[in-house]
Amino acid sequence: MKRIFSGVQPSGNPTIGNYLGAFKQFVELQHDADSAIYCVVDLHAITVPQDPAKLRKRSREIAQIYLACGVDPSKASIFIQSHVKEHAELGWLLQCMTYMGEANRMTQYKDKSEGKANVNVGLFTYPVLMAADILLYDATHVPVGDDQKQHIELTRDIAERFNNRFGETFVIPEPQIQEFGARIMALDEPTKKMSKSAENEGSRIALLEDPAVFKKKIMRAVTDTENEIRFDEENKPGVSNLLTLYSLYADESVESLVNRYQGQGYGTLKKDLVEVMTDKMGAIQKRFRELDDQTELDRILKQGADQAREIAEKTVNRVKDAMGF
Ligand code: ADP
Ligand code: NA
Repeated sequence: MKRIFSGVQPSGNPTIGNYLGAFKQFVELQHDADSAIYCVVDLHAITVPQDPAKLRKRSREIAQIYLACGVDPSKASIFIQSHVKEHAELGWLLQCMTYMGEANRMTQYKDKSEGKANVNVGLFTYPVLMAADILLYDATHVPVGDDQKQHIELTRDIAERFNNRFGETFVIPEPQIQEFGARIMALDEPTKKMSKSAENEGSRIALLEDPAVFKKKIMRAVTDTENEIRFDEENKPGVSNLLTLYSLYADESVESLVNRYQGQGYGTLKKDLVEVMTDKMGAIQKRFRELDDQTELDRILKQGADQAREIAEKTVNRVKDAMGF
């Protein structure tokens, strides 16, 4: 049985990195799995301060983006994490199965807490809640971007430890990470990943952004002084990132692009990339606007939460039985 689970945080406006690393895979995978469950992980978002009204609005927006990208609610369950209380419940049970040393090794925590005052405990235990999200649904495959690999490994370790101590309870999940496109880089600093929660707006392109706005960002994207179009992630991260975006949006191999643009400047490459992106992103933006029926969205989210809860309740019962509750 192949069951897909994944989630996206309502912590900002989703970027083209989230699209290419996550949403796009969600759509492809819903067809070849036995079932797929896609969550809006609002409990994760509050590991950094959120404005309540914005949080509520963004959670619904992420669900609407799932639909606009092509997630089909008759094939996949779409729901909001906080609507299924078992996430928080299993999260606590698993915190007591996780070592401080393990949580301490998580690079996302180090990155997100570095230099910040008043970091909350939730940011530290975030990966354990993520383990609960995945293990609640007996997920076999978890489509994510490259940055989540370490968290999935922790999930597997916690699940194996639990099974060894209390008997077979959890399915051990596999990360499903694409070979290409799993790490879209920031436009201003192409050695860092593009993130919807980064401070500099110019570092990212939102999925729902106006072409006039993202055109400026692409034209300003950091490259190098060589003015030679070549794919070399280590020495030419900026140009390589643009080639990656181009390849994924145009469905043309990097090799073919490099050949085609031989002898041309970065300006030409950037201008053409903007055109390709305007086309592809325009289609998703159009569907997003068409789907703006809040009553229908409520219905889909309720149906998704009901389907998810049915599975989650069974898992939590199994876990509590095994642990002696
Ligand atoms: P963000 O890091 O932008 O706040 P999330 O933590 O909500 O996004 O992650 C949602 C999904 O998007 C995850 O599967 C994550 O790995 C993927 N993702 C995030 N940023 C990128 C990126 N720059 N390139 C590819 N995938 C990404
Ligand atoms: Na992330």
